[in-house]
Amino acid sequence: MKKTIFEEKVARTFKEKYITTPIVVNAPGRINLIGEHTDYNEGFVLPAAIDKAMVLAIAENGLQECRLYSLDFEEEFKFNLNDFAPQSSGWANYLMGVVDQLQKNGLEVKGFDCVFGGNIPIGAGLSSSAALECGIALGLNELFELGLEKVDLVKIGQLAEHTFAGVQCGIMDQFASVLGKEGHVIRLDCRSLDYSLFPLKLDEHALILCDTQVKHSLADSAYNQRRKECEEGVELLKKYFPAINSLRDVDLDMLETHEAEFDQKVYKRCKYVVMENARVLKACEVLERDDFNHLGQLMYASHEGLSQLYEVSCQELDLLVEETKKLGYVLGSRMMGGGFGGCTLNLVEKDKVAKFEEELKVVYENAFGITLKTYVVKIDEGTRLI
Ligand code: GLA
Repeated sequence: MKKTIFEEKVARTFKEKYITTPIVVNAPGRINLIGEHTDYNEGFVLPAAIDKAMVLAIAENGLQECRLYSLDFEEEFKFNLNDFAPQSSGWANYLMGVVDQLQKNGLEVKGFDCVFGGNIPIGAGLSSSAALECGIALGLNELFELGLEKVDLVKIGQLAEHTFAGVQCGIMDQFASVLGKEGHVIRLDCRSLDYSLFPLKLDEHALILCDTQVKHSLADSAYNQRRKECEEGVELLKKYFPAINSLRDVDLDMLETHEAEFDQKVYKRCKYVVMENARVLKACEVLERDDFNHLGQLMYASHEGLSQLYEVSCQELDLLVEETKKLGYVLGSRMMGGGFGGCTLNLVEKDKVAKFEEELKVVYENAFGITLKTYVVKIDEGTRLI
């Protein structure tokens, strides 16, 4: 495959720094059409890989040491393969976390050098960290002929996030980054990991991200907290329905019957997840007949639930979604990803894209004094060797 200018730049920097020819990996970020906070509840999601990616150049170095260099931060980090541990924060954790998982699986990782950079905005909810994890996992798999399947890379990336980044994330981000397919969304069953690809025929419509450029600091702790609240709801319902394993097995009837026994907060969390799962299945149904109007309504309903019941939105996201309701050419809008900042995803009539960007920029600037960033999404292939 021919390298892009950016891929060339990463490879060139690698050669200048480490004086050898690396392999180059492109690992994309992701969007999610609908199905938020359902993955760790063994539910359904509808993500896709996008044309914003991390690019990693990697080569063996014959040492016991790994040398990592971030082009974007202009920082080098070194660690010894026999002695390393999570840092208090920072990008190195995503890479070391993967090495740690490979070692825990009994696979031999030898010393390597890695230069990486990308155009996935950090902290925008587009999963730059999952891209980094999946990129290094695929790269090391190739380099050391570890024989791992794609789905193994996905699981290793997810566990790296749990152990080295401290976020008990679900499997959606890594799955989308590795298994994405150009022009398609992935309907993923997060329990069985069965998936199917849906062509997304965006002939007359466009998907646009509005980046709030805020990431409220409670994001990671609130994420783990939501996960706990869902588990608490399952524990309560298990007393009455012993066969259930997760909120995937729960319906609204079961919840409503026992509402009085619930802590109100936990009840709201569970209600949101049960309803969101149903919305993903409905979204797949309407996509079969390219009913984008209906898809848009489901996106608005998803946002409402995330904001009011799951309480992972924030005023910046809520304002952006609310404003779109005044614009007749927007079919749907919602916050995307973990929440507390990041992006909204918008389904817009294609010939109104420029108008949309202009209108929302004015509104956002007036409200928060921040220049809104917008990105028109192209759905791309998953993590690959260049
Ligand atoms: C983050 C996590 C995912 C998923 C989303 C919310 O992106 O990494 O696993 O839970 O939040 O849908």
